[in-house]
Amino acid sequence: MTDVFGLSQKDTSPVSGQAAHEQVVFCADERSGLRAIIAIHNTALGPSLGGTRFYPYDNEQAALADVLNLARAMAYKNALAGLDLGGGKAVIIGDPAKDKSEALLRAYGRFIESLGGRYITACDVGTYSEDMDLIARETTYATGRTPANGGAGDSSILTAFGVFQGMRAAAQHKYGTPSLKGRRVGVEGVGKVGHRLVDHLVEAGAEVVICDVSERAVERVRARHPQVDALAGQQDIIAADIDVYAPCALGGSLDDDTVAKLRAGIVCGGANNQLAHPGVEKQLAERGVLYAPDYLVNSGGVIQVADEIGGFDMERARAKASQIFDTTLKIFAIADEEGVPPAVAADRLAERRMSEVGRIRAIWLGH
Ligand SMILES: NC(=O)c1ccc[n+]([C@@H]2O[C@H](COP(=O)([O-])OP(=O)(O)OC[C@H]3O[C@@H](n4cnc5c(N)ncnc54)[C@H](O)[C@@H]3O)[C@@H](O)[C@H]2O)c1
Repeated sequence: MTDVFGLSQKDTSPVSGQAAHEQVVFCADERSGLRAIIAIHNTALGPSLGGTRFYPYDNEQAALADVLNLARAMAYKNALAGLDLGGGKAVIIGDPAKDKSEALLRAYGRFIESLGGRYITACDVGTYSEDMDLIARETTYATGRTPANGGAGDSSILTAFGVFQGMRAAAQHKYGTPSLKGRRVGVEGVGKVGHRLVDHLVEAGAEVVICDVSERAVERVRARHPQVDALAGQQDIIAADIDVYAPCALGGSLDDDTVAKLRAGIVCGGANNQLAHPGVEKQLAERGVLYAPDYLVNSGGVIQVADEIGGFDMERARAKASQIFDTTLKIFAIADEEGVPPAVAADRLAERRMSEVGRIRAIWLGH
């Protein structure tokens, strides 16, 4: 096992999915306390892009396992989003509240720059647009910057918009119309993504129920939309008489228990990693629940920040994010044709694009 940074070794579990990665870079700067790992899963479609997670991992092995899984997930997300980008991700080991500093972020930026554009960063858990502004002082390969610095700002705007498009596509597939008017939608988690999704849903004439562990988050929604009902928690949303369940909080909402109790016919939400373990996608299909794959419908955020690479234009990014509607329909069609759950169809389509479009680079250009 690795121990490049000499951290404690509480977690000795083997790292999964290691073999498939193209490049893994360990970065350390003792004076600023920087300890980071950048993982590039593949660059078949272009430079790798994915956010930087700043998190107090127990040890280096846990950080490595996380960054490898996250980088792989970004390769699939970027491929399905139709971007000319590969999959990468980075983690900074530490407590963002205590350890983040200008020197640390700028030191990290220099390591990104040293990769010559093979990895482009963005925000993730524990990092914000202001941090990207600092990183961008040392590298041209930082997106998710503030609008004042040419950035796309808060990526939850197009994440929520994309989830809404995915939900319309699911309604089209299930009910024969994309309209959500009169549909009952349960939104679990009304933070940055969830509360914007509620705005879209209310505007579309849906009946919305919400839940959130944060009273403030619930009140913010209720102040804007008094007709939205707040339920006590996830179990109440699952048991409610709803047409669509939209997980927009943390990962793992769909497990054996929740799938068995779920009354909704569609699952479509912004949270990452909604399926608690492999096999849940099959259970959903067996119960007749249409699952819109999470990494497809929540790709509006990466579409938004990726647009910064050529100079940010919100309308161009929004037009691109609206294609999530068509891609979601395509996934459902492939799932039906190939007799597999939509999550499997999504993986297959992403792999196909990486392989077929990635292959054209083998054509010799003559210069
Ligand atoms: N922000 C983006 O652009 C983006 C992009 C892609 C995916 N995502 C994913 O979407 C999800 C939400 O992200 P966000 O940016 O809105 O985060 P956020 O922290 O702003 O919102 C999450 C909300 O969920 C609530 N919550 C936490 N645990 C809960 C529980 N058990 N039950 C109900 N509510 C709970 C929190 O109180 C918070 O209000 C995450 O899974 C994130 O990874 C976000």
